[in-house]
Amino acid sequence: MTQPQHTVLASVQATAGAPAVVDSASEWASKPSDPAVLVDLASELPDRHPVLSGPQRTGARNAPVELVKFHVPEVVFGPGALSELGGCVRRLGGRRPFLVTDPGLAAAGWADEAKAHLRNAGLRPVVWTDVTPNPKDMEIEAAYRRYQASGSDVIVGVGGGSCIDAAKGVAILSGNGGHILGYAGIDRVVQPIPPMVMAPSTSGTGADVSQFAIVSDTTNNIKITIISRTLVPDVSVIDPRLLTTMPDSLNAATGLDALTHAIESFVSRAHNRLTDRHALTAARLVAANLAKTIDEPMAAEPRIGMAQAALEAGMAFTNAILGATHAMSHQVGGLLDTPHGVVNGVLLPHVIRFNAATDPQRFVPLAAAIGIDTTNAPADEIAESLAQRVRQLADAVGIPDGLAKLGVAETDLPLLATTTLNDACLNTNPRSATQTDIEDLFRTAL
Ligand SMILES: NC(=O)c1ccc[n+]([C@@H]2O[C@H](COP(=O)([O-])OP(=O)(O)OC[C@H]3O[C@@H](n4cnc5c(N)ncnc54)[C@H](O)[C@@H]3O)[C@@H](O)[C@H]2O)c1
Ligand SMILES: [Fe+2]
Repeated sequence: MTQPQHTVLASVQATAGAPAVVDSASEWASKPSDPAVLVDLASELPDRHPVLSGPQRTGARNAPVELVKFHVPEVVFGPGALSELGGCVRRLGGRRPFLVTDPGLAAAGWADEAKAHLRNAGLRPVVWTDVTPNPKDMEIEAAYRRYQASGSDVIVGVGGGSCIDAAKGVAILSGNGGHILGYAGIDRVVQPIPPMVMAPSTSGTGADVSQFAIVSDTTNNIKITIISRTLVPDVSVIDPRLLTTMPDSLNAATGLDALTHAIESFVSRAHNRLTDRHALTAARLVAANLAKTIDEPMAAEPRIGMAQAALEAGMAFTNAILGATHAMSHQVGGLLDTPHGVVNGVLLPHVIRFNAATDPQRFVPLAAAIGIDTTNAPADEIAESLAQRVRQLADAVGIPDGLAKLGVAETDLPLLATTTLNDACLNTNPRSATQTDIEDLFRTAL
């Protein structure tokens, strides 16, 4: 393995300009995954297609039973990537970008740096910072009114999943009108939306590459999930420097979110050979780097590893979708406004056990990816070890060990279970779950 080119990351730059050291994104992207921990995907070729048919002149369709699709944005990756923001907007035809960010990003200095990069590219940005964590329906509608009045074109999000989802919400309303909650569910965003460039500031959500937007419904105290191909941003600008100002608690929460994306997408009913490798690589990178980012916050290698983990987990889950952990976690977030990744970290070991009880096999490659010895052990024991290892990692980075510590009460469980059943993420969980199953899972995790 080559030595990292830099060992610490530069923090916020007071002036826009070229980064001191620009890493080669392709170097990181091309790093081979440890072959020992990867499933041999070739061996999964379906044996009902032993040979492929040749050309047909009739135009008749071949039965498309094995087709898979893989949809991700253009990615600009590496320390200093934020300085590419203006160039990305210009290439998309933007002149007056609408920059959605939030007070935390402004206080950390990243909003000013982003604004300076946009201005240096000859653009006239309009900055909107009225976004709170778990972005609310009315915040998005207020941002959209400002967007409309300002005559902006390209939409830019700089921040965590909340800013990125709020930016996506503005884009949805701009192309489609109506109210943001009206787009809950799958493929209800039908009209084209403005170009979007996203720069994530947390190493977790994958919102910068995903076809998801998660919005808090403040009337019903739930979070709605909007899924649409149109929501995949045009460009994701991933600069690991932004991660260095995250408080430890946010770093831990978003790292657990990335691990949850990796595990849920790998076992999802909609997983495929193109998403599997990204999921396994992401799981390996979180296990190898998350704790190191807390021990040495400015060290380059672990932050770059976590940025790559979040990206690859995002590439996996946006195409393979998620499972019961996310379906349940969205309800807790909607009810109590709790950090998304923290809730995932609490729920994930319990959901692994629930899913493995009927089919533990797919947890084996995941366990191997995070360094568990899987030789000569039965799959159900390996899945249990994986659940325990996830909990150990959660303990190591300070994630509470039960939902009660986040404010969930026994009396909340029936409602949480009912709303979970309506969440789109439950459809791809590998094991079907009834209302009683979900309520029991919540109770186990309490
Ligand atoms: N769209 C998707 O695909 C997707 C996937 C997973 C989660 N989500 C959503 O993302 C949201 C959570 O996003 P998140 O966990 O990234 O956090 P966040 O965006 O909610 O940010 C939390 C807080 O941390 C601050 N912050 C963020 N980055 C910072 C940095 N680098 N330095 C200093 N402060 C910083 C913010 O200002 C904010 O106050 C939830 O609403 C969740 O549902 C979306
Ligand atoms: Fe998530």
